[in-house]
Amino acid sequence: MRLPGETEVTVSVADRITDLAERRCCSWGAIHAGLGPDVGRYDAAMERDSERADGAAAAARPEAAYDRWATDYRDWWAPVIAPAAVGLLDRLNGLVTTDRAATLVDIGTGTGTLALAMLRRWPAVRVIGVDPARKLLEMAEAAAEQAGLRHRFTARVGEAGKLPLPDTSADGAMTSFVLQLTPSRAAAVREVFRILRPGGVFAHLTWRRDTDRWEPEDAFEDAVDALRIEPPARSSGADRSYPSPEAAAAELRRVGFRSVRAREEWIDHRFTPSSYVDLAEHWTEDDTFASLDEPMRRRLRVEVLRRVSRLPADALVWRRPLVSAVGIRPG
Ligand SMILES: C[S@@+](CC[C@H](N)C(=O)[O-])C[C@H]1O[C@@H](n2cnc3c(N)ncnc32)[C@H](O)[C@@H]1O
Repeated sequence: MRLPGETEVTVSVADRITDLAERRCCSWGAIHAGLGPDVGRYDAAMERDSERADGAAAAARPEAAYDRWATDYRDWWAPVIAPAAVGLLDRLNGLVTTDRAATLVDIGTGTGTLALAMLRRWPAVRVIGVDPARKLLEMAEAAAEQAGLRHRFTARVGEAGKLPLPDTSADGAMTSFVLQLTPSRAAAVREVFRILRPGGVFAHLTWRRDTDRWEPEDAFEDAVDALRIEPPARSSGADRSYPSPEAAAAELRRVGFRSVRAREEWIDHRFTPSSYVDLAEHWTEDDTFASLDEPMRRRLRVEVLRRVSRLPADALVWRRPLVSAVGIRPG
């Protein structure tokens, strides 16, 4: 626990709330999270950060929280969500101008999963990847370099509610697993509308709200109880996932998008007992692991593995609902 000066207190509050809200909005924990009282504290902390325009505070902006988990995110969570993210592009056949050097924007590009898939699918387009997390942007640039696509990829620091792009400058904008993280989904959608040229297309994919339990998650909690571990306190975080495809479509229409189509999608990921334990340790339950000393961490790993290994293989398929929506900015 830090005992810092005033600025650092602000950063510490922002960090802590972001730890809870952001990560849970990107893992199965999020899907059970409600809209808690921390939302107000989160926004207030962000405002205080920007008012002070303090270098240290800016570096610890809540929106850039992924920088602190960049490697774990890239190695453990990004591969789980990648197939669903890339699947969003199948909805765009015929809607994206691909016969000239169209400019597409990937909002919250992270390690560049969607941006790289766009570049591969449409060889004439260039993609601008926007994200508040600089380390993730560097990883996206490195991945583009490695794939020989760097010359068509530009990384820009920025966030969905204030895109660092001029009005009507993009032919298309896509975003996957990001809208649920933005302080205001409506503000993010308005920004997309602003940067798109008339006739430009917007497509997004995010979680649909869901409260179902998942057996490995219960097994993890049972293991924690059996070992008498007290997990660190967690806030409920802010769940800005859509309740339904209809709600996602209505949001796009309110902003002015036309030809809007939204539908339910699913993410399916088959874990093995050990891949589940790895992900728990490095991503979904890492705060619990981090609160333990090494012998206890080992015991928790073994106990969770023992319990999860007893489940039937099908219980290890993680299947959760998503929402995707597509709309056109009218000409
Ligand atoms: C779950 S990751 C998804 C990354 C990528 N779109 C994908 O599908 O692989 C969420 C991303 O959103 C970014 N993010 C968080 N808050 C954001 C905001 N307000 N505006 C834009 N991006 C944001 C994070 O830094 C992170 O890269």
